Amino acid sequence: MEETNGKVPGKSQQRQKRRKERSSKESVVEDGTVNEEVNAKEEVTAEEEGGEQQSQLQAVNEDVLSNMRGLVEQLKVGSKYLMRTPKTPEEAKQRSFKFWSTQPVPKLDENVDTNEAIDTCRDVATIRQEPYTLPDGFKWDTLEINQASILQELYTLLNENYVEDEDAMFRFDYQPEFLKWALQPPGWRLDWHVGVRVVKSGRLVGFISAIPGQVRIYDKLETVVEINFLCVHKKLRAKRVAPVLIREITRRVNLTGIFQAVYTAGVVLPKPISTCRYWHRSLNPRKLIEVNFSHLTRNMTMQRTVKLYKLPDATKTPGFRKLTPADVPAAHKLLAMYLNKFHLTPVFTVDEFRHWITPRDGIVDSFVVVSASGEITDLVSYYTLPSTVMHHAVHKCVKAAYSFYNVSTVTPWIQLIQDALISAKHLNFDVFNALDLMENRKFLQELKFGIGDGNLQYYLYNWRCPSMNPEDIGLILL
Ligand SMILES: CC(C)(COP(=O)(O)OP(=O)(O)OC[C@H]1O[C@@H](n2cnc3c(N)ncnc32)[C@H](O)[C@@H]1OP(=O)(O)O)[C@@H](O)C(=O)NCCC(=O)NCCS
Repeated sequence: MEETNGKVPGKSQQRQKRRKERSSKESVVEDGTVNEEVNAKEEVTAEEEGGEQQSQLQAVNEDVLSNMRGLVEQLKVGSKYLMRTPKTPEEAKQRSFKFWSTQPVPKLDENVDTNEAIDTCRDVATIRQEPYTLPDGFKWDTLEINQASILQELYTLLNENYVEDEDAMFRFDYQPEFLKWALQPPGWRLDWHVGVRVVKSGRLVGFISAIPGQVRIYDKLETVVEINFLCVHKKLRAKRVAPVLIREITRRVNLTGIFQAVYTAGVVLPKPISTCRYWHRSLNPRKLIEVNFSHLTRNMTMQRTVKLYKLPDATKTPGFRKLTPADVPAAHKLLAMYLNKFHLTPVFTVDEFRHWITPRDGIVDSFVVVSASGEITDLVSYYTLPSTVMHHAVHKCVKAAYSFYNVSTVTPWIQLIQDALISAKHLNFDVFNALDLMENRKFLQELKFGIGDGNLQYYLYNWRCPSMNPEDIGLILL
């Protein structure tokens, strides 16, 4: 089986090793002080290695080295810059969270056995009326994405600065029409599309968004927002703009009487409610290998790999067809019933369901299985999220389908998802991605998905609850 990776496509273990070697140097970008600290650390490491070889001859050096090691440890813990935003719980525990420790979220080591709001005495009347203060030279701007030029500016900000894989080979390329769909579900609010611009040039350099919704957390129904598309321009990184964006969107959401949020991230922050993993199913293995999304495994030729991932030409399930507007009420009911199995789920109104599930070319594809008697028994859906291939002479983009909401009541999982894969192949997708949540583990291996190496952490804001296994999660954020 070919190995594929994380939230955004592609890295082999060798590449990961090179990345680790590079990562200490990456923190140099922050500022001069840190530069010195990092250099000091590198020098110390070099001296440590030399010192070890001579330790029997120069016992006195041991003392010096020991002091230096202590110093290095202090630097590691003491400098807010030396560690990048943690990717694993181990890294996260080494780190203090200057911003997140001020927020109503559980501590990383907190053991939770209740299911409740953290900060309960919230009253709209007490919420700050004025926007938070941005660094000098920057201003807030609510983005009217119905204006094509503004939508294009948001697209460009994200296309150039949003989530990348660790090796900076691929970057999410959310399309303009996709962004409109994601940011304008029923109940959306203009002032929850929060931009940051440079005062002088007007250039858009930051963004964060919220959309409203209801979720069920274990047995509690809560009105929340979903936070997404947090992005700070590369040139403005590590200047604490992200916490200001988060505070500002929180303030704007609180003013409407909503005090809880749900969000996902690749990084570990206080405190994930669940840790999920992406799996990837090659549909166009030749291209994926050419762009280094995946690689040929031992004993596999290109020809054999292409054969391995070949799918039947036609879907197999009788009654498998594209979802139509007329299917919405029955399909809504089917999904609502099904989601009762999980501990964290959306609770869609019919209108919300219609928004998220009705097929839109290049944005979301949905299919139902209709029985001989006309009943909708199964549902599959996936959304379109291409990634830019950052440095390749021929291929500029990987077209990825992301598994969305699926229900199987009659068609077996493997057959249902195989038909989804076939439909995605027909639509020219290169890869089909799915998280290991809901009942996805029932088909991932069998259908030749390869495990990724990046985690997707699920978070709730101002809520504490016992953590969940991936198979307890029934919520997908875009
Ligand atoms: C994520 C991003 C906005 C953070 O901005 P930054 O300039 O790197 O960091 P800042 O100096 O402004 O802020 C650092 C704080 O933000 C927190 N932070 C970093 N990434 C975060 C995330 N994805 N979600 C929430 N908080 C995050 C850090 O933990 C830190 O807080 P702490 O002191 O409590 O640890 C920026 O790196 C970015 O745009 N990255 C690419 C897009 C991306 O990954 N977006 C998030 C998708 S989930």
